[in-house]
Amino acid sequence: MLAFEALRAVDERDAYANLVLPPLLRKAREKGDFDGRDAALATELVYGTLRRQGTYDAVIAACVDRPLSEVDPPVLDVLSLGVHQLLGTRIPSHAAVSASVELARVVLGDGRAKFVNAVLRKVAQHDLDGWLERVAPPYDDDPEDHLAVVHSHPRWIVSALWDSLGGGRDGIEDLLAADNERPEVTLVARPGRATAGELRDALDDEAALPGRWSPYAVRLSEGGEPGAIEAVREGRAGVQDEGSQLVALALANTPLDGPDKAWLDGCAGPGGKAALLAGLAAERGAVLLAAEKQPHRAGLVARALAGNPGPYQVIAADGTRPPWRPGSFDRVLMDVPCTGLGALRRRPEARWRRRPDDLDDFAPLQRGLLRTALASVRVGGVVAYVTCSPHLAETRAVVDDALKQYDGSAELLDARPQLPGVPALGDGPDVQLWPHLHGTDAMYLALIRRTG
Ligand SMILES: C[S@@+](CC[C@H](N)C(=O)[O-])C[C@H]1O[C@@H](n2cnc3c(N)ncnc32)[C@H](O)[C@@H]1O
Repeated sequence: MLAFEALRAVDERDAYANLVLPPLLRKAREKGDFDGRDAALATELVYGTLRRQGTYDAVIAACVDRPLSEVDPPVLDVLSLGVHQLLGTRIPSHAAVSASVELARVVLGDGRAKFVNAVLRKVAQHDLDGWLERVAPPYDDDPEDHLAVVHSHPRWIVSALWDSLGGGRDGIEDLLAADNERPEVTLVARPGRATAGELRDALDDEAALPGRWSPYAVRLSEGGEPGAIEAVREGRAGVQDEGSQLVALALANTPLDGPDKAWLDGCAGPGGKAALLAGLAAERGAVLLAAEKQPHRAGLVARALAGNPGPYQVIAADGTRPPWRPGSFDRVLMDVPCTGLGALRRRPEARWRRRPDDLDDFAPLQRGLLRTALASVRVGGVVAYVTCSPHLAETRAVVDDALKQYDGSAELLDARPQLPGVPALGDGPDVQLWPHLHGTDAMYLALIRRTG
């Protein structure tokens, strides 16, 4: 029931599963008769159903005698939840069908419950592999459509990810499969306020693993609760993907001639990278200015930075009309708004909401913000252009345009040496991280030096 309510909210109100679920789970716990295992199951059902929606729609379409667009959305939600239980969990088939029919009876009425029963009995005739053989076009006929159905991604996203990743079938299959896995929770110990060792000491040995590459990272194993750690509650540590840590560290570690006193984060909200940079800046005697257009998100940045051991400033400002003087910073981070195609594993519904047109909406803003970054840094200083999307239209295309405009007065640096020990960074000079290769979100990083 709770999983159904969450799916309805996501479908009907364009809500985000990660925002809708916690209050529903809280309410269920308060009513009693609902424990941690129930919460874990409900969460898995919602996330799994949303992620796998593309595959499940193809299966349901093969079991009903009308187009899916003519099936009422609440009926489709009950069916999808039932299909996920049948094909994506170890719940026994009879239990999955009877629970779904019972749910349909309560929320949809007897007539539709019969329809749900008939469809799910057909679905139960094969397992997931059996269905994929039946509903996915053969790889050799249409590789992208095959992968779209098998790995439940919109075809245009398969195509875009493959363009950026390059290579053959194995790599893209691994990437798409990684998007369907629940990501590990990674913590960051904010420099000068906590250490990774302190975070690990606060957890059982099995509950915490060291970061793969970031000295500030701690990876939580299954069931690790960030809120149970004092340093997280006090804001001395936070939840942050290791890829986000790596790009911030790369900017901080790029060698610089001359002064290194003024750092800028031009798109700082909600403040994860700003908090890491502010701590590093404090260790070097530098000051961070964190700017964010949305005032309420600037408030989140202020909260993330409160308690930083060195000086910093947070302002609400539009990075395309910066209030600061040109050339006044030694290091600049521009972590621009983007489609988020590199973080699909975190937002199960995002892949179905995004449209190719979104790229056109972001393009001028991304270019404008990178222009600001290049204008804000002094000659000899360095800019990190960052996205949490690997789409080439948001990464290389934006950087190439900026370099053309700054012909002779900006150069792309090889970013790879600034991510020491990280394997599979490609041919450079920019860096693309990948969930299936690095266990991180697909963050993109270009380091650009102003030369004149
Ligand atoms: C990808 S997020 C940044 C994430 C952040 N660096 C972090 O690690 O927590 C992009 C941010 O840019 C902000 N933004 C959008 N347009 C902006 C603009 N014109 N100037 C400054 N910030 C902007 C968005 O509100 C959003 O908070």
